[in-house]
Amino acid sequence: MKSAISIQNISKKFGTLEVLKNISFDVPVGRVLAIIGPSGSGKTTLLRCLNLLARIDDGKIEMNGFSIINKPTNFNIRVLREKVGMVFQQFNLWPHKTVIENLIEAPMLVRGLSRSEATEKAKIFLKRVGLADKANEYPSRLSGGQQQRVAIARALAMEPEILLLDEITSALDPELVGEVLNVVREIVAEHKRTILLVTHEMGFARDVADEVIFMDKGIIIEQGKPDDLFRDPKQERTRQFLQRILNY
Ligand SMILES: Nc1ncnc2c1ncn2[C@@H]1O[C@H](COP(=O)(O)OP(=O)(O)OP(=O)(O)O)[C@@H](O)[C@H]1O
Ligand SMILES: [Mg+2]
Repeated sequence: MKSAISIQNISKKFGTLEVLKNISFDVPVGRVLAIIGPSGSGKTTLLRCLNLLARIDDGKIEMNGFSIINKPTNFNIRVLREKVGMVFQQFNLWPHKTVIENLIEAPMLVRGLSRSEATEKAKIFLKRVGLADKANEYPSRLSGGQQQRVAIARALAMEPEILLLDEITSALDPELVGEVLNVVREIVAEHKRTILLVTHEMGFARDVADEVIFMDKGIIIEQGKPDDLFRDPKQERTRQFLQRILNY
């Protein structure tokens, strides 16, 4: 099966701290991979490397056949931004722009859409996340769940082939988590995009992922189908982690 994301033996250090140690895995086109693991295990760093927000020290990354190299040119970064969308834990919306302005910025800048084209499309994506009526609001006037849905719509507005989602519900009040996860469930159900998500929501990972990776201290400890990994983990460290998080 063709890989949308192909990672071979990547390593990453911050100073002397080895954050990613010889990581390899593939995500086939259109599939969903969930990464779970304790705080500090390198999950965010891994996603940032895939999106060229951080540079790997060693190894190879291909995103839909496009090679991520250590010293990318502006052109490479631009091509990657067109293919890959990322949503962060802390939303990262532009506070001085309205919701619709947040959505049209990148399609205009990176994809060269006119303002009216970008606005038309943005409205469709806002509707998809249930926020058609908030187009002219500023982010600070929205709830956390609404802001995160705007961030998802903003990523979708670039029509990325690959979506990277980094703990997108962990900054939210518990009662707002469901609305954001439901939006992701709908995106998954379309089967249009390859999705790599980091999450602490084990039930959600089990439902939506085709494959799960448990990472600890920069290493992949275990990888498998969600039903196998959650029900019957092979490694003691996976078992301990799941016990801790599920009894939480
Ligand atoms: N820019 C940076 N400079 C130095 N060290 C960093 C930097 N970013 C991350 N680290 C370190 O790298 C390690 C992995 O961090 P990372 O954010 O990838 O973990 P994580 O698995 O996403 O954790 P969490 O579940 O808390 O989000 C941590 O020890 C962190 O302190
Ligand atoms: Mg993180």
